[in-house]
Amino acid sequence: MTRRDADMTSLDEDNVNVVTPTASEGDRNADVTLRPSTLADFVGQRELVGHLEIVLGSARTRRQSSDHLLFAGPPGLGKTSLASIVAHEMGSGLRVTSGPVLARPGDLVALLTDLQEGEVLFIDEIHRLSRTVEEVLYPAMEDRRLDVMIGRGPSARSIRLDLPHFTLVGATTRTGLVAAPLRDRFGFVGQLDLYEVDELRQIVTRSAGLLDVALSGDAAGIIAQRSRGTPRIANRLLRRVRDVASVRARDVVSEVLAAQALDLFGVDGFGLDKIDRRILGLLCGQFANLPVGLTTLSHACGEEPATIEDAYEPYLLREGFLIRTPRGRVATDKAFTHLQIRRAGGGLV
Ligand SMILES: Nc1ncnc2c1ncn2[C@@H]1O[C@H](COP(=O)(O)OP(=O)(O)OP(=O)(O)O)[C@@H](O)[C@H]1O
Ligand SMILES: [Mg+2]
Repeated sequence: MTRRDADMTSLDEDNVNVVTPTASEGDRNADVTLRPSTLADFVGQRELVGHLEIVLGSARTRRQSSDHLLFAGPPGLGKTSLASIVAHEMGSGLRVTSGPVLARPGDLVALLTDLQEGEVLFIDEIHRLSRTVEEVLYPAMEDRRLDVMIGRGPSARSIRLDLPHFTLVGATTRTGLVAAPLRDRFGFVGQLDLYEVDELRQIVTRSAGLLDVALSGDAAGIIAQRSRGTPRIANRLLRRVRDVASVRARDVVSEVLAAQALDLFGVDGFGLDKIDRRILGLLCGQFANLPVGLTTLSHACGEEPATIEDAYEPYLLREGFLIRTPRGRVATDKAFTHLQIRRAGGGLV
């Protein structure tokens, strides 16, 4: 191990898997610092933001709570940020919880009955609510009503509780995972898409300002280019670049330094890391020209099927490295070329 390698390993606990969009411990702290707090600070997603401005603006004019809102999209694209922006824009308090935390109906009842007038209740990973907890939510969302059973057996009776006005904001990585009756009770469903490089460049520039990192030339663009369309990854790569700059005692991050730092962490020019290359390597090598099912791919590369589907595939699909056919995933010519693997029976494509 060289001295520089030794320095790098002590830099941060989340230097492994630098491009996975799922939040690491290091991200969670940085997410709070770098999270935009108003719609004006929220870069990109123009159509969704435009719709949201109308929904929130109209609720403000009527002096009422906004309709319930559901945000869907891959990890790290800004769903949690939007939930806190909604509360901020409405001038309301925000309560935060998540599907897996609300294990029993009583957990949700306790939370709902404690809400103040006009508050925003954010339920992250809402697709992971159990059916019995979901059933408590339906009348609460529709009529601001809770039917609570008191006692057991023949003496059991149901009492009705009225709730204050509130806005439920739900987040999910895929709308398809949310049960239809729950989805139908949201007045607005916003789908977040991967960001364009220009938008990520703006995000990196803003975050560099907040983190006091000086960037020169188009260093922000180099980081944006390799961020897989995901703001959380853009911010994480910026922090890794800052680490390298500080280890090398550089005050300013140039384009060359940014590119060298990202190479050092195994993030290539397209923003692919070792897991992406493992996925594509399997599709171009062992399984060349054969459609591969998600389960096989998951076993072969040692990642959970959901991680492959939510975290890796959206970008590989968008950039045209793989396609999904009814029989499975297939690598494209671009993947063979990128990995410099020859297609069987053909030349290097
Ligand atoms: N549109 C944006 N403009 C500026 N920064 C953004 C934007 N979207 C996300 N970010 C940054 O990315 C970080 C991650 O975003 P956020 O936590 O809102 O994603 P998420 O969709 O909730 O992810 P997960 O599915 O993992 O919960 C935020 O802290 C923020 O710094
Ligand atoms: Mg989130």
